[in-house]
Amino acid sequence: MGNSKIKDGVLSNKKVIILGGSSGIGFATAKSALAAGADVTIVSGNLTRLDTALAQLAAGPEIGQAAGPEIGQAESREFAQAGCRGFAVDLRVEEDIKRFFEGAGVFDHLVYTAGENLSLAEISGTDMEQARQFFNIRFWGAFAAVKYGAPLINAGGSINLTSGIASSRPGKGWSLASSICGAMEGFTRAMAVELAPIRVNCVKPGVVKTPLWDGLENREQLYQATEATLLLKRVGEAENIAQAFLYLMTQPFGTGQALVIDGGAELV
Ligand SMILES: NC(=O)c1ccc[n+]([C@@H]2O[C@H](COP(=O)([O-])OP(=O)(O)OC[C@H]3O[C@@H](n4cnc5c(N)ncnc54)[C@H](OP(=O)(O)O)[C@@H]3O)[C@@H](O)[C@H]2O)c1
Repeated sequence: MGNSKIKDGVLSNKKVIILGGSSGIGFATAKSALAAGADVTIVSGNLTRLDTALAQLAAGPEIGQAAGPEIGQAESREFAQAGCRGFAVDLRVEEDIKRFFEGAGVFDHLVYTAGENLSLAEISGTDMEQARQFFNIRFWGAFAAVKYGAPLINAGGSINLTSGIASSRPGKGWSLASSICGAMEGFTRAMAVELAPIRVNCVKPGVVKTPLWDGLENREQLYQATEATLLLKRVGEAENIAQAFLYLMTQPFGTGQALVIDGGAELV
């Protein structure tokens, strides 16, 4: 799995930071941004997955071979590569997010796709403390990333968050996921108003084949059942969502919007 960084791409001379870039949608967005000419920094909470992702990103001929991992500070370890870099940061911890951005320098586009595997349960069986914690990475992590990242964004830059169609088309057991997505869309609009002229948008995916679903026993059944109902008769690929993030980074006039990429799921 290689990648080619081009000199005159739509993101040439731009710095893109992707929180959640070691896997799934974030990883696909990192690949697309690198291919569009950007300097890319990915952040994840797991050193092994970060290293694997960086090695895959760096495998393209014009980016060069992956160098050995360089270990920096204990809390925020760095793996330097040509064209792409990675930091291990626990996005549940505000202090770690703050420290990461203090060392990041100015940049152009922030993408936030981090989230742990889904756990679905009806409200009667939902533990309140676990429910509160489920907001930590997806919502409060994004909130803190915007708080500490926005002041470093260059003119013309953007913030790109992640929601999901659970906000508008939840199923039984989706109370937490739906609440987080709804909160994220409100947060996106509020930040578009408050941080303008930085453009702030979110992508709202339908079901996409990524490691997010690995913990689900009936994952293949979920994919098949979803495919049967969708207008486009297939579930999404991470690259489909990466294309939406690339569009949001490069378009100059939309802000405060949730871009739905769902194979038609909202209409059926
Ligand atoms: N896939 C779908 O069908 C779908 C649909 C709608 C919305 N979404 C949303 O899209 C976002 C991305 O999903 P995905 O499918 O790309 O999931 P994924 O493949 O599981 O990727 C999740 C990313 O979050 C990172 N992460 C998890 N815990 C972290 C922590 N404590 N600190 C730092 N990073 C952490 C993971 O890195 P490490 O594991 O390396 O720490 C990984 O890079 C999620 O918010 C998800 O809810 C997904």
